[in-house]
Amino acid sequence: MSRLLRLDSSARSDSFTRRLGDAFVHAWRQGGGGEVVHRDLTLDPPPPIREGWTTICDTLLREGITETDRYAEAVRTEPERLAWAVTEPLLAELLAADVVVIGAPMYNFGVPSALKAWIDQVTFPKMVLTPRRFVVLSARGGAYGPGTPREPFDHQARYLLDFFRGHYGVEDGEVISAELVNSLTDPALAARLPQHRDSAAAALDRAAGLGLELAGHPATKGS
Ligand SMILES: Cc1cc2nc3c(=O)[nH]c(=O)nc-3n(C[C@H](O)[C@H](O)[C@H](O)COP(=O)(O)O)c2cc1C
Repeated sequence: MSRLLRLDSSARSDSFTRRLGDAFVHAWRQGGGGEVVHRDLTLDPPPPIREGWTTICDTLLREGITETDRYAEAVRTEPERLAWAVTEPLLAELLAADVVVIGAPMYNFGVPSALKAWIDQVTFPKMVLTPRRFVVLSARGGAYGPGTPREPFDHQARYLLDFFRGHYGVEDGEVISAELVNSLTDPALAARLPQHRDSAAAALDRAAGLGLELAGHPATKGS
């Protein structure tokens, strides 16, 4: 049965990306999906990588170790053991998942620092994570969709899709986005509230639809 890893990274407890995550998980359960592991990167933020992590990574490259189940062979010094103690459980959680759903608000045109710290902790050279599926649940204050003036400023959704493709070999990642969330609070954006509502409703629908669909995603490891 397929396993789901859900990550959240919004600083808010009442948040759009968390609402999208709830819709996804609800549908996943309705569709008969398997175990759900929830990691809240805001409540429990991974620390930034330190030197021990970088020397593990150098050894993997130097010795041509690409299989994830051989990474521990590269852990040799005390700083490396300390680094591995942080990375190993996060990596194990990622590798155990068939579907990874990431709540990723846009912060300063990019992703929240806790999410970036998680990515740095779990990503090693030449990792191939197919056939896992990756879904990004996004929310942003403004509008960054195709053809909008702000589209070139999107270093959040585009970064994550490029990252999955370039680092994990995943071609079919999907981003579901609620746009113009700031129209709820910023009077200057009040005229765009209907656009936000349409975008949020479509995002919730798509999150539920994909949760249902991916509940039947084939398990990568069997269970
Ligand atoms: C620290 C911070 C930085 C933000 N930066 C941007 C930004 O660069 N562009 C944007 O459109 N919205 C920005 N926003 C607005 C959020 O993207 C928006 O509130 C979104 O709903 C956050 O997702 P959440 O509801 O899941 O917390 C920012 C919000 C915060 C708290």
